[in-house]
Amino acid sequence: MRMSVIGCGYLGAVHAAAMASLGHDVIGIDVDRERVETLSAGVAPFYEPQLTELLRAGLEAGRLRFSTSMTDSADAAVHFLAVGTPQAPNADAADLRYVDAAVDALLPHLRPGSVLAGKSTVPVGTAARVAERVSGTGATVVWNPEFLREGWAVHDTITPDRIVVGAADDPAGRRAVDLLRDVYRASTEAGTPFLVTDLATAELVKGAANAFLATKISFINAMAEIAEASGADVTLLADALGHDTRIGRRYLGSGIGFGGGCLPKDIRAFAARAEELGRGSAVGFLREVDAINLRRRDRAVQLVVDALDGQVVGRRIAVLGAAFKPFSDDIRDSPALDVAVRLRGLGADVVVTDPAALDNAATAHPQLNYRVERDEALRDADAVVVVTEWDEYRREMSPQHAAELVTGRIIVDGRNCLDAAAWRDAGWTYYGMGRR
Ligand code: UGA
Repeated sequence: MRMSVIGCGYLGAVHAAAMASLGHDVIGIDVDRERVETLSAGVAPFYEPQLTELLRAGLEAGRLRFSTSMTDSADAAVHFLAVGTPQAPNADAADLRYVDAAVDALLPHLRPGSVLAGKSTVPVGTAARVAERVSGTGATVVWNPEFLREGWAVHDTITPDRIVVGAADDPAGRRAVDLLRDVYRASTEAGTPFLVTDLATAELVKGAANAFLATKISFINAMAEIAEASGADVTLLADALGHDTRIGRRYLGSGIGFGGGCLPKDIRAFAARAEELGRGSAVGFLREVDAINLRRRDRAVQLVVDALDGQVVGRRIAVLGAAFKPFSDDIRDSPALDVAVRLRGLGADVVVTDPAALDNAATAHPQLNYRVERDEALRDADAVVVVTEWDEYRREMSPQHAAELVTGRIIVDGRNCLDAAAWRDAGWTYYGMGRR
């Protein structure tokens, strides 16, 4: 099927390459010329496992192209809208300017029978507004939210947990749903559930899913606060809770909390939209989820300060990690970098390392020191803070070897990802989050 993907960021670039790998004929459109050139050369513009291979395969097979011109999308049967919906400046609501601009640019190219499938995360009611905007063209709007995780984006796009398509319950809506069934036939034949809803429910599924995940993380981090006050260990608590299959262990990872380009801004936008709908109190807890999350960053900084007996100025602190999570170079709202920046703000000599996100971090925060090699970051450190649970730190860093490099054997495990006993045995003073 001929299709366009409008917006080639984390979501759209992966979607375009994944659709080509399923045999479709795909054109990716982006306003950023440099990004289009990079993608056209078969280079992923950000770190995402398997994306380069998928891009190259699609380009070589002639099923994948990229362009800055919306005109090149004119013969597509389906246009996937995958532009960003960041947090609005000085507000909690989503900024929909990119959605509106993309729809306006696409309008002259929509034909009767073509489908505009929204993938961007939007406040409920946006799809109906977009449908109204395109109503004169004869095209049909459906909403098809994306649930991919960065770092697993290719896997999640090709083998998703579920496919959700929201559409109007009328002949045009049903035809559009059937078209989407054809798009995803390879996935549904492999057993992926295909759920059809109305437009509003499809938009809500995405917001609700991210709200639930954020709540689950903040729940365990709230338990970490209680554990700190009572002498319990939140990681053992999470293990014990997780054996209850109704609860499950996933997303009970305690530490410095969630960040990235999705969960933080999505819960704020969700709460802001609920307030607009007069139901703010129904999701008032999301404000607390946000507050708990941000408090964990304070706690990590405080642990370092306490470990150094309050003497932070001029002390060398190795910060291991900058990305908001492993297998990503994304530093948007990264808790890891936030901790590093705050320690620098307290006067520490902060040295940051990360296997993928160093360039992005250095551009955003030139006031920090950076080292490519982990051992160089560790050298002469008075304290070490692990803030992104890369395998390079979690599995591959030997406490004995690290002990030879540092000045002070203090380690703060901001992701509760290290073997505390092994570090203590090697002579380190180990501090976890919500652990004794
Ligand atoms: C999230 C959702 O998981 C995806 O389903 C969704 O499609 C995506 O947002 C989106 O809206 O586009 P992502 O932001 O890539 O995906 O990352 P997650 O793996 O969900 O992690 C988010 C943050 O939570 C990270 O900072 C991570 O370190 C943190 N986290 C995750 C924890 O602190 N504890 C956990 O147990 C799990």
